[in-house]
Amino acid sequence: MKNPNNVIVLTHPLLKHKISMMRDKNTGTAAFRGLVEELTLLMAYEALASLPTELVEVDTPLEKCMTPMISGRKLCVVPILRAGLGMAEGIVRLVPSARIGHIGMYRDPETHRPVEYYCKLPEHLDERMILVVDPMLATGGSAVDAVSAIKAHGGKNIKLLNIIAAPEGVETFNNAHPDVPVYIGNIDRGMNENKYILPGLGDAGDRIFGTK
Ligand code: PRP
Ligand code: URA
Repeated sequence: MKNPNNVIVLTHPLLKHKISMMRDKNTGTAAFRGLVEELTLLMAYEALASLPTELVEVDTPLEKCMTPMISGRKLCVVPILRAGLGMAEGIVRLVPSARIGHIGMYRDPETHRPVEYYCKLPEHLDERMILVVDPMLATGGSAVDAVSAIKAHGGKNIKLLNIIAAPEGVETFNNAHPDVPVYIGNIDRGMNENKYILPGLGDAGDRIFGTK
């Protein structure tokens, strides 16, 4: 599959190195969490390159100057629960004033289809840049439904950030939301019969929260 223009696979060696560390089954919870945060910082740096700026007056110790600062409504981050929470931490470190929405989704273990159990989003979504974050894009179902929910609440300027994706998930998401750019750390080989990404990193939620 040739990736469409709005599927951006990041290539920085630091990012690839950290993804390899996350894959290792011997990487424990604390290190795993740290890696999720660091990777998100690197990915968000790229995804936020189009944030609008305006010139504001600042007094340096030497003189006044007009210098750029981010303009407009505050950025909104929407982690897909649970695993997306780990990534949201990374973005808040970069943009401490970001607003945070939450969408709760779990995959039905039989059908692998997403089930939404929670949705709380900030006001004025139509005026904000929105970063939807989830470490894994497997079948794509969770991300497709999460972005549909955000659009139903008025969201327009949406970007999706995934650390690891399966080719099927990328295609499904792009077919459903061709207007939403996706920033991906790595596109892996495929999925197993339980719709886990191969080689992947296992269950991202369990590894971030130490639940298994
Ligand atoms: C994982 C992951 C994504 C979803 C991806 O969540 O964090 O949300 O699976 O799979 P999909 O692309 O096939 O929909 P999970 O359902 O395991 O829930 P959890 O984060 O609460 O563990
Ligand atoms: N969710 C995960 O946490 N890992 C996968 O490989 C697929 C879905």
